[in-house]
Amino acid sequence: MSGIASSPVDPFAPDFLMDPYPAYEALRALGPVFALERYGVWAMAGYAEVEPALKDWKTFISGEGVGLHGMNPALPKPLTLQIDPPDHDKGRRVLGRTLSPGVARKLRETFQREAERKVAELIDKGTFDAVSDLAEAYPMKVFPDTIGIRPDGREKLLAWSTFVFDSFGPDNEMLATSRKAGLAAQSWIMECCARDALQPDSLGMMIYQAADEGEISEHEATHLVRPFLTAGIDTTVNGIGNTLLALATHPDEYRKLHHKPELARNAFEEGLRYDSPVQTFFRTTSRDVEIGGGVIPAHRKVLLFMASANRDPARWDGADRFEVERVATGHVGFGAGIHACVGQMIARLEGELIFSELARRVKTIELTAEPKRRLNNSLRGLESMPIRVTAA
Ligand code: HEM
Repeated sequence: MSGIASSPVDPFAPDFLMDPYPAYEALRALGPVFALERYGVWAMAGYAEVEPALKDWKTFISGEGVGLHGMNPALPKPLTLQIDPPDHDKGRRVLGRTLSPGVARKLRETFQREAERKVAELIDKGTFDAVSDLAEAYPMKVFPDTIGIRPDGREKLLAWSTFVFDSFGPDNEMLATSRKAGLAAQSWIMECCARDALQPDSLGMMIYQAADEGEISEHEATHLVRPFLTAGIDTTVNGIGNTLLALATHPDEYRKLHHKPELARNAFEEGLRYDSPVQTFFRTTSRDVEIGGGVIPAHRKVLLFMASANRDPARWDGADRFEVERVATGHVGFGAGIHACVGQMIARLEGELIFSELARRVKTIELTAEPKRRLNNSLRGLESMPIRVTAA
């Protein structure tokens, strides 16, 4: 590892994950690239390195897994996320069509109605847990409905995705805990993705239409519905939860949003930059790569600290400030390049509608007790957030 700094830090340790931002600052100071001694991997934490690496899919490949460990050759090859072109193109095309801006426009009315219902219910309550009653409840209703998933057993969706996101990190205590519940949910998840389990006129059924037209096989369709459930819920839950915490702890910023609810989409985008739900993903080098005077050899794992790039003062003025009016475009909270989040239109729609409805109807938001963190190897989010709201 000559010419490359190294760090003994464990970015998957509970004390690191509780508050990673000071540690990210120290990691960025090590230089453009550094080694993480504990895991024998390389890493980047600055925006100038992370963003181009995400876009350089030929050098930093995903097909050997976006977690610490390589892919299990005994498992079927995924059709999205952990796959490289040209194999990546087919699944991405089908998912991209299913999750297009046009589809998002059609969903707006239903999502809006549900946001109104949810916020009215919470105003009536006055005090509530903003994680279970809002950040989880809203996406867990609108999103699986849209995919066409049956209403019973939906709590298994969170258990499943928490496990998948934990499994991108090392085999630590967090993974041991989430593995049990995740594996218990696995067969239910697969059942839900089957053609005859899905509601007609749903996004899930749009994937099967691609099979009817011969674009993908029936088997591939089942494996393309599953990523909706793995990648589309926990991420959005944490995006809404983290943004709400930022608003509750920055009353001046909430006031701006309250006076101008049309800032809601922007405020959510800033929330994804300021406290990114997906903190890290790995890549694998396909060749020797020279960066900042050092060389990462071929076939090595590289950890990309996306959440650190989103707080890099070299890219963002007042990077550690949460500002609902900031132009957060260019953040890598949804990734970048060919793997950039294919569900971002849907996630943005959920964020925009729930925060604009809150902004219109709620005058103040305050914490009534310390929020509790839910630690995960890749995701940043909360277990609970007791809050009080006053009606406008
Ligand atoms: C990819 C974050 C919501 C489905 C990604 C990536 C990130 C991300 C960072 C890039 C992965 C990489 O580069 O390796 C988020 C966040 C969300 C969100 C923060 C919510 C706030 C969703 C939703 C869906 C979804 C709602 C489904 C409707 C996917 C899929 C990929 C992906 C299938 C893989 C794309 C590919 O490999 O081409 N997401 N996501 N995500 N996301 Fe999301």
